[in-house]
Amino acid sequence: MRIVVIGSGYVGLVSGACFADFGHEVICVDKDADKIAKLKAGAIPIYEPGLDALVASNAEAGRLTFATELAAQVADADVVFLAVGTPSRRGDGHADLTYVYQAAKEVGDCANDGLVLATKSTVPVGTGDEVERIVRKARPDLAFDVVSNPEFLREGSAIEDFKRPDRVVIGADSQRARDLMTEVYRPLYLNHSPLMFTDRRTSELIKYAANAFLAVKITYINEMADLCEQVGANVQEVARGIGLDNRIGSKFLHAGPGYGGSCFPKDTLALIKTAQDYNAPTRIVETVAAVNEQRKRAMGRKVIAACGGSVRDKTIAMLGLTFKPNTDDMREAPSIAIATALQDAGAHVRGFDPEGMEQARPVLPGVELCDNAYQCITGADALVIVTEWNEFRALDLKRAHKLLKSPVVVDLRNIYRPDEMARLGFTYTSVGRSSRKD
Ligand code: UDX
Repeated sequence: MRIVVIGSGYVGLVSGACFADFGHEVICVDKDADKIAKLKAGAIPIYEPGLDALVASNAEAGRLTFATELAAQVADADVVFLAVGTPSRRGDGHADLTYVYQAAKEVGDCANDGLVLATKSTVPVGTGDEVERIVRKARPDLAFDVVSNPEFLREGSAIEDFKRPDRVVIGADSQRARDLMTEVYRPLYLNHSPLMFTDRRTSELIKYAANAFLAVKITYINEMADLCEQVGANVQEVARGIGLDNRIGSKFLHAGPGYGGSCFPKDTLALIKTAQDYNAPTRIVETVAAVNEQRKRAMGRKVIAACGGSVRDKTIAMLGLTFKPNTDDMREAPSIAIATALQDAGAHVRGFDPEGMEQARPVLPGVELCDNAYQCITGADALVIVTEWNEFRALDLKRAHKLLKSPVVVDLRNIYRPDEMARLGFTYTSVGRSSRKD
């Protein structure tokens, strides 16, 4: 099949490379000429494990190409995927659909009969209807279908998620479109990944409902962690104890500094706005978004408490700056709110991240960025684990103890064992694992 993917961000690039790897002929189109030039030269604009090799092998095989001009590519495409950004509209949290609608108009202008236009971008319910209207207006006589095909991949494990998804959701209102989408995903179908067909509006909502549910789960365990600290219980054991119940499930129950990233914060807000607009408010999600927002800064207060109540003129070393490991993405990363809270309290903040330094620089003003973990903690008054990169799990703790000015460790991801840290002489604080005994 011939597939065009519009937008070469995270979702577009990973989807394009994986579709090519399925054996399809894929053209990734992006208006950013600089990005396309780099991709043509083999440079990948994002850090995602395995993506460079996947792009290289499929480009070499001639199945994956890059272009800036849409018109020349769309004419003989079987399916065009929209994978452009839908950022939060400044000020109100609604998803900004400018790029989606602009791309739809351009596709409409140059498409041929039989086109399937599939939206992978996360878009509010009803966007497919509007996309259809835009194309119809541009080309009243064109035979085409607009499909919703939300993407559930996670950063850091995007290729694995794409190739072995729990499910593929396809919202299509015609049998022809369903048949074509089945062909696109046939290699997965053979691997027994379930294809779920539904109508377009339901498909659009599934994506938001899934992300919001996961955000609820994380926020729930984070609040349980706070309670564990007060009552002397262990949140990891609580998570295990409830997660073994199949109705609850063990995933996404890791307590931490609050969720960040390009999806959960933006998509929860957009869902809240849509629900309010339709007079069916999602109060649970509203609360989750508010609790999560407050939590990030509260982690700064946790560090201050661990430092004896004041960080004025102290040096705090943050290890892990990205919103999660195995990505260089700093969007809505808890490290930003934590650093600001510590700076506001008079601390000098240092930071190190294995992949995120370039992205961190503009969003962490005043934070001294270091070359490696050990340099970062040398002479510091406290070490704070913000993101659980493997290299921090394997930190030489004896060396760290020697390098720190005072042996205070605040582990916001629970990567170390409290008994081990005590044995090594650290003053150790983690999340939801209090040693309190009343
Ligand atoms: C998420 C969804 O998982 C994915 O399906 C969707 O397509 C995009 O949004 P992503 O943002 O890449 O993916 O990362 P994810 O692994 O879901 O983590 C999101 C945030 O939640 C991170 O900040 C992570 O640290 C946090 N998290 C996750 C927790 O704090 N605890 C957990 O148990 C899981």
